[in-house]
Amino acid sequence: MKVHVVSKVDNNIHAVTRLDQSSYEQQILLASSVRVQPLLITLSSNNLSYARGGDLLRWWDTYPVPAELPQPYNDQKSWGIVPAWGYGLVVESTTNIAPGTILWGFWPTASMTVTLKLEPCEPKGFWTEVSESRQRLMTIYNSYSEELKIKIPESIFETRDWTKLSSLVDEDTLKRLSWISVFRPTWQTGYLLSRHTFTSNPTVRPPIHPLGINLPWTGADADISAAVVVSLAASSKTARSFAYHMFRRDAVKEGPVGLLQVSQRPELLESVPGKLGTAIPAKAMGYDQVGESIEWIGRLRPKKVVVVDFGGRGGALVQFIEGIRAHSILTEVKTSIIQVGSEQKVYSADEITANRDSMKTMGKIQFNTSGVRDAIITHTTAKDFYDQAQLVWDDWISVSHDIVPDIQLMVGHGVGGERGIEKGWSKLCQGMVGTGEGLVYMM
Ligand SMILES: NC(=O)c1ccc[n+]([C@@H]2O[C@H](COP(=O)([O-])OP(=O)(O)OC[C@H]3O[C@@H](n4cnc5c(N)ncnc54)[C@H](OP(=O)(O)O)[C@@H]3O)[C@@H](O)[C@H]2O)c1
Repeated sequence: MKVHVVSKVDNNIHAVTRLDQSSYEQQILLASSVRVQPLLITLSSNNLSYARGGDLLRWWDTYPVPAELPQPYNDQKSWGIVPAWGYGLVVESTTNIAPGTILWGFWPTASMTVTLKLEPCEPKGFWTEVSESRQRLMTIYNSYSEELKIKIPESIFETRDWTKLSSLVDEDTLKRLSWISVFRPTWQTGYLLSRHTFTSNPTVRPPIHPLGINLPWTGADADISAAVVVSLAASSKTARSFAYHMFRRDAVKEGPVGLLQVSQRPELLESVPGKLGTAIPAKAMGYDQVGESIEWIGRLRPKKVVVVDFGGRGGALVQFIEGIRAHSILTEVKTSIIQVGSEQKVYSADEITANRDSMKTMGKIQFNTSGVRDAIITHTTAKDFYDQAQLVWDDWISVSHDIVPDIQLMVGHGVGGERGIEKGWSKLCQGMVGTGEGLVYMM
């Protein structure tokens, strides 16, 4: 079993280390638990955030480095395992989830099995991880769902050789699961932002503050019917989901009056409004076209400008805000900033501090997918929430290949080496994962 470990102090430093399966899997599975082998996981800029915020937001709690790892990698203060979204196969169970069940959820970047202590929750087929060690994680990261079942041959149970489990899944299914796993972790963010934070029907769907907590967020804050929305790092998967949900809105009743997408690769985004047949005016521009972009916004005469930052490069956000403030018409227009993500790179300690400071000085409002999801579930029910989201997801998935044709699955294998997670992590740290790369790893 191989484990990818990352230095908590400097996320650029990482290593692959080995775990002895027989000593690691010695413990008998406790009640209400499953043993799961990660099957297929995905990496994107999102995983850099899990490492960067690992202490503060408790992502390092998900899978602490096992004591059985060789030194120094078994030191939980210095080393962590970055969690990743994907599918895992249940190989042993003391719950009513049968072995052979494939779960969607949060896994280690490792080929080791993990044990989860699960309680059933609503709706049927959903489970909550309830281990004491994971209680400070946000709820979304403790949520697992049953997806499909496969048959595991007896010989595999006898030898406990979990290394070839992905070969039990037929190729078409693996392709489908891979495609889904590239988008599913962040798709929900775009959906929640558009549908609930910028709700167009406050009586039916009350406006939810971007953090999802009980802070003021009025109908006026949520109303973007007369706003221009600016998306920075618009080619990220999260931003593309957001754009899709914007383009599905009714241009007249819900707005916005324009969507500006700012990206290093604007040409990838230009055809999407036409493909979706939206009436919302849209423009895709490069980071070097700030002046032109501001003019375009000005011509739409918005009543407000909402900048959603998915991780714009360099000083893009500051340049935009300065440009808007200096514009003859826009200077009087209310401008708000919703902070969703960060650049694809490892931030130095000084940069992290500067980012935190800028939240205050620039009046940014942080968005939190988990918090917003929790708030909706308390207003309605988990079943209503998932039923609604499923309908919209099905619609998105049916057009996904058409609206993100540039994103190709880059299927790697295992933990170490050129085709493994190790290389993927190096590329992410250096900002070298191309816009069109959907990194998926068969474990
Ligand atoms: N707050 C939340 O609840 C929440 C939820 C989901 C995701 N997020 C965050 O949103 C961000 C985007 O995540 P993702 O997984 O969607 O990202 P992704 O698909 O990996 O997107 C990467 C994009 O980042 C941009 N980029 C910025 N600086 C770059 C650099 N130095 N090198 C390469 N690309 C760079 C590029 O877009 P352009 O060329 O268009 O600039 C690129 O397409 C992450 O920070 C993630 O943690 C937050």
